[in-house]
Amino acid sequence: NKVVLAYSGGLDTSVILTWLQEEYDCEVVTFTADIGQGEEVEPARAKAEAAGIKEIYIEDLREEFVRDFVYPMFRANAIYEGEYLLGTSIARPLIAKRLVEIASETGADTISHGATGKGNDQVRFEINALALRPDIKIIAPWREWVLLSREKLMAYAAEHGVPVEQKRDGTKSPYSMDANLLHISYEGYDLEDPWVEPGSGMWRWTRDPVDAPNTPQEIELTYRAGDITAIDGKPMSPAEVLAELNRIGGEHGIGRADIVENRYVGMKSRGCYETPGGTIMLKAHRAMESLTLDREAAHLKDELMPRYATLIYNGYWFSPERMMLQAAIDESQRVVNGQVRLKLYKGNVLVVGRQSDSDSLFDESIATFEDDAGAYDQSDATGFIKLNALRLRVAGRRRGR
Ligand code: ARG
Ligand code: SIN
Repeated sequence: NKVVLAYSGGLDTSVILTWLQEEYDCEVVTFTADIGQGEEVEPARAKAEAAGIKEIYIEDLREEFVRDFVYPMFRANAIYEGEYLLGTSIARPLIAKRLVEIASETGADTISHGATGKGNDQVRFEINALALRPDIKIIAPWREWVLLSREKLMAYAAEHGVPVEQKRDGTKSPYSMDANLLHISYEGYDLEDPWVEPGSGMWRWTRDPVDAPNTPQEIELTYRAGDITAIDGKPMSPAEVLAELNRIGGEHGIGRADIVENRYVGMKSRGCYETPGGTIMLKAHRAMESLTLDREAAHLKDELMPRYATLIYNGYWFSPERMMLQAAIDESQRVVNGQVRLKLYKGNVLVVGRQSDSDSLFDESIATFEDDAGAYDQSDATGFIKLNALRLRVAGRRRGR
């Protein structure tokens, strides 16, 4: 039997790699993806080879990640529990998809991952994988083994000759982190007390807003069908857009969040996130929609959004209900075309202008406070108000009786 392992090359999945071979006496295929986590993926090859692995998949999925997962999600303005931009949640379905595809290509019947039994990630990997391949078998070592502490993992690694090397930049972080092009997350360590402010050394992608430039930076984003296609008039691919917005946003201290969230498995957990590009994208997209979407279409999107966000958070990307919502959201975006101008300043994203030559619903001749030359007949409002108040007046009379 053969198992495809989502392999980062880090300590946990390196131990899993050896453990799977010993415990299950199976052949392991490793899969390592660059989804913009900012770490080299190639070193995973030598490590896998050293562990005796023959089939090694290393892939650059950055464009697919942003084009097919991040962009569709931002069309919905998705936020979980009012705060979380779903940076980890949206990457899991792509990993799950590649895991089962590689399983089919290599004749494996099982996949494995390094998510713990306490979190959301296990659910996301497995539900999405099962949705795509109903007969896939799954091994989740964290739910089976006895290596439930750092210490025990290290001891196992030492005993079995699993190389434990320090990061090349010399930074050992005490946090549980996860990064991709959309965000970096931190959990555990001093964050386990929700009252304690994390040490300032924790944040990696953004400048402290206090130290950000004293002059605002202006940028212009171009939208086509709800997606950003250019920055300051320069056309860019989805992954290029997000990388560039992360860079600029990080400079200006944009996109830090410190949250207590409800995990799907039932516990509350505290996490910190840096989502500089995503924070800019959310604000700008709403500004673009404000000009181009019909009121009722926009309000309906806002009602559906929390459902859609929860589906992604809980691991239902490849569910019929998510795809159904996506079709509605995508349909609404046909008119979301134009430009948004922003100022970035000390942690803030300020919208200073929006325009759409082709699709604006903003009619200056109607909205003006000056003489509108008959575009809007103010006397129409008399009947509008009277009929809308009718039922309230009837009810008011009843109260008076
Ligand atoms: N709490 C966030 C989520 O559920 C982040 C999870 C981070 N995952 C990790 N393996 N460190 O989406
Ligand atoms: C994990 O438990 O593996 C990370 C946290 C999460 O999935 O929520």
